[in-house]
Amino acid sequence: MAKIISFECSRCSEKFAPQLAPTICPKDGGPLYVRYDLSEIRRNTPRDSILGGPKSMWRYAAVLPDAEPVTLGEGFTPMLPSRKYGNLLIKDEGLNPTGSFKARGMSAAITMARHYGLKKLAAPSAGNAGGALAAYAAAAGLEAYVFMPKDVPIANRLEVEASGAHLTLVDGLISDCGRMVAERKEKEGWFDVSTLKEPFRVEGKKTMGYEVAEQMGWSLPDAILYPTGGGVGLIGMWKAFDEMEDLGWIDHGKRPKMICVQSDGCAPIPKALHEGNAASEMWPDAHTLAAGLRVPKAYGDFIILDIVRKSQGTAIAVSDDEIMDGVKELASVEGIFACPEGGAALAAYQQLLNMGFLTESDRVVLFNTGSGYKYLDIFAKYWGVTAFDGELKLPASRNMGGIIGPY
Ligand SMILES: Cc1ncc(COP(=O)(O)O)c(C=O)c1O
Ligand SMILES: [Zn+2]
Repeated sequence: MAKIISFECSRCSEKFAPQLAPTICPKDGGPLYVRYDLSEIRRNTPRDSILGGPKSMWRYAAVLPDAEPVTLGEGFTPMLPSRKYGNLLIKDEGLNPTGSFKARGMSAAITMARHYGLKKLAAPSAGNAGGALAAYAAAAGLEAYVFMPKDVPIANRLEVEASGAHLTLVDGLISDCGRMVAERKEKEGWFDVSTLKEPFRVEGKKTMGYEVAEQMGWSLPDAILYPTGGGVGLIGMWKAFDEMEDLGWIDHGKRPKMICVQSDGCAPIPKALHEGNAASEMWPDAHTLAAGLRVPKAYGDFIILDIVRKSQGTAIAVSDDEIMDGVKELASVEGIFACPEGGAALAAYQQLLNMGFLTESDRVVLFNTGSGYKYLDIFAKYWGVTAFDGELKLPASRNMGGIIGPY
């Protein structure tokens, strides 16, 4: 595993000595990147040495911080060739523990939180990050405080409660949840594991970049379609490409176009990109049934926009109806029961083909970031299905707090 040599600010590039429980740059609030001695890793860790590692994201331990992992088997998800489009690959993150790619970031963040001796962790969440935080905190024996909008998919509420985390449902958006965590964390003694407020969720999510390269025979695609909320995966993958070039694991120079996919009910990144701005503005009245995309202003918006521009990618918004058509097509053509965010990525792919931004000969990786099984209530409502209309008979003793007596 890798020794951390510094934390580098993504805004002012100042480097800080390794410290316990790092947060953000004290000067300008910029998210911090974890830096390792890549030339030493290059000397001592040939690329193929990872091949015998676990079939999880921890196979990339050589480029992850040196600590005992808190793992539920996250990562190393399938990369499935599309059955319809000859050069489209679908990275199915729905197979992760807790049913979404948020498992990767939380596995790394909770690993480091335990390593630093932290006890109480808090985060705002659009849904899946809260579920992942609750599960990994339970596995690590730590306390978790999760703040979510009250209209998140029911699976997210249930998984947090079942994991024994403290759940606060908020009449507002993830930005309101984030404000609540910020206001209370000092008094309550919580460590804030919000998106980009600590550097290790990016480390977990960067493993998607390593996996794409490994699963494509250590090459990179022409484009990556990424459903973007806070943008951690996009930022993490770009970091992975930087690192792999420095490690000599991939060739220098040829990078995928990074394509940020949002919903037209909440599209701050496409708007900022097309208006030529370096950062986004708070999107008013954000709404979409792709809950993970309902982030009205990402903390790392300036990093996302910089990567999209540097990679000659783009940002595109699709409608909720197009998202749900995408979900149906992924299920009926590919056999993948995807989350709405994955449906959004497919809708974006089709639009970018129509616009000529992509062609069918481009090698494209599409991220399905979660499982459709986490959105049954959302799908049922949209498709007009009554979720359950029978009578459910349960023994009186059953409750969420524990099992009392035999059934
Ligand atoms: C299924 C799903 N896809 C995409 C996203 C957006 O992820 P990120 O915040 O890394 O951009 C989320 C975030 O909650 C999500 O749950
Ligand atoms: Zn800084």
